[in-house]
Amino acid sequence: MEIKIKKTGSAHLNIEGGATVDLPVYAGSVGPDVIDIGTLYKNTGMFTFDPGFTSTASCESQITYIDGMEGTLLYRGYPIDQLAKQSNFLEVSYLLLHGDLPDKEALADFSKSITYHTMLHSQFDTFFNGFRRDAHPMAIVCGAVGALSAFYHDSTDVSDPQQRKVASHRMIAKMPTIAARAYKYSIGQPFIDPQNDLSYSENFLRMCFAVPAEKYEIDPVLAKAMDRIFTLHADHEQNASTSTVRLAGSSGANPFACIAAGVACLWGPAHGGANEAALRMLYEIGSVDRIPEFIKRAKDRNDPFRLMGFGHRVYKNYDPRAKIMQRTCHDVLDVTGQRDDPIFKIALELEKIALNDEYFIEKKLYPNIDFYSGITLRAMGFPADMFTVLFALARTVGWIAQWLEMVSDPSQKIGRPRQVYTGHPFRDYVPLNKR
Ligand code: SDX
Repeated sequence: MEIKIKKTGSAHLNIEGGATVDLPVYAGSVGPDVIDIGTLYKNTGMFTFDPGFTSTASCESQITYIDGMEGTLLYRGYPIDQLAKQSNFLEVSYLLLHGDLPDKEALADFSKSITYHTMLHSQFDTFFNGFRRDAHPMAIVCGAVGALSAFYHDSTDVSDPQQRKVASHRMIAKMPTIAARAYKYSIGQPFIDPQNDLSYSENFLRMCFAVPAEKYEIDPVLAKAMDRIFTLHADHEQNASTSTVRLAGSSGANPFACIAAGVACLWGPAHGGANEAALRMLYEIGSVDRIPEFIKRAKDRNDPFRLMGFGHRVYKNYDPRAKIMQRTCHDVLDVTGQRDDPIFKIALELEKIALNDEYFIEKKLYPNIDFYSGITLRAMGFPADMFTVLFALARTVGWIAQWLEMVSDPSQKIGRPRQVYTGHPFRDYVPLNKR
C-alpha cells in the first residue's frame, strides 16, 4: 500500500499547567484532515480519550469514502448508486480488492478463480453436523468460517503474497457455500453444491432454494436483486466489524480467523444484526395505527427501545444505500406478487412519520441500509435469522480488501489501545482471616 497522506501543518496543544506540543496535521484526498497524536504520550504523558472512536481515524485507507453529511458512499471513488445500477457484485469485488475496474480479461480471470474456489473440502460438511438443527445460522457461519483455517493450511501464511491471494479468493468464493449450507442445515434439507455455469448470485440462490427433487428455475429479477444487495453491503469504511478484522489482522492472525472475528462483531443488533431486528420490530408494531406508540418509545430516553434500521454513526443524512434498497424492495415485491405486503406498508408509513418528527430531524436519524433489507430478503424467501448471514456474505469482500490493505501498510503495527484507569490504586493483599 502506498502512503498518500500529506502533511499540511500543525496543531498546537497547550495543556494547562503542563506541556505545549505541536502535532502534525495531515490531509487525505477528500474528507476531514487528521491530527497525528502518535507522539502525544511520549511528549505529555497523556492519552487521548475517545470511547466509540467518534473522532478517531484508525488508519489510512484508499478503499471506501463516506460523507455522512452529504449521504455519499464511494467504492474506490465510484458512487454506490452508479455501481448498483451499472456494475455487478464480482466486478465490484475486483474493484474493492484491486483499486480499479477490471478490463474484460482481468474480470474473466477473477471470475474464474472465484468460481473454482466455491466448493468446500468434503470433510468440511461433517463440521455442520456438530451444530443443533435449531442453531442460529450466524452461530454456524461464525464457527464454520473460523474452521476454514483447519482445512486450508496452505493459505494461512500472511507474509506470503500468493497465500494471501489464495486465501482471499477462497474466502470470497466459499462464503456463499457456507451461508447456503447453514440455511439448508437449519431447515433439514440436503446441501446443494455450487454450479460453475451460474453467476455468483444465481449460484447462491440455487444453493439456498434448489432441492434435488426438481429443477430450480433462476428468476432473473431476484438474481439481479440479490447481486445488487451484495453490492450495497460490500464495504463501508472502518465500521465496527471491519475495525475488528483489522485489529485481529494486526496481530498476524490468519485471514480466516480475522473474517470469523468480523462475522462475530457484525452479528450485534446495533450493527449487521439490525436487518433482522428491524423486521422483527415491524412485526411487533403490527399495524400502521400502532406506529405513534413505538415512535414515542423510541424518543423516551428511559426506554431502551430504538427504531431498528434508523440512525447511523456516520450518516447524518439519508444512507444512499437505503434509497437503492427501497427501490430494490419494490422490484422484489412486484415480481413476487407481494406488492400489498402489510409489513412494507408499515415500513413506508413509519419512515414517513419518523422523517417528519422533530426528534428524528434534530438527531439526524434517517433510515439506514437495514431498514428495507429485511423486508426485501423476506420477500425473496429468506427467514429473518438468515439476514445477517447475507450481510456477512456480502461484507466478506470488504473485510478482505481492508485486511489486505492493512497487511501491506508499511506503517502497520499491532493495534493496542490504552485506557483511563479509575479502579483501585495500589493496595496490599488482605489475608482471609482479616477480612
Ligand atoms: C450498520 O458503521 C457502519 O458503517 C455500519 C453499517 C455498515 O455498513 O457497516 O452502516 C451497518 O450497522 C447500520 C446501523 C444499523 N443499526 C441500527 O439500525 C440500530 C439502530 N440504530 C442505533 O442503534 C444507532 O443509530 C447506531 C448504533 C446505528 C448509531 O449509534 P451512535 O452513532 O453511537 O449514536 P447514538 O446511539 O449515540 O445516538 C445518538 C442519539 C441518542 O440520543 P441522545 O442520547 O443523544 O439523547 O440518537 C438517538 C440516541 O438515543 N438514536 C436513536 C436511534 N439511533 C440513535 N433513537 C431512536 N432510534 C434510533 N434508531
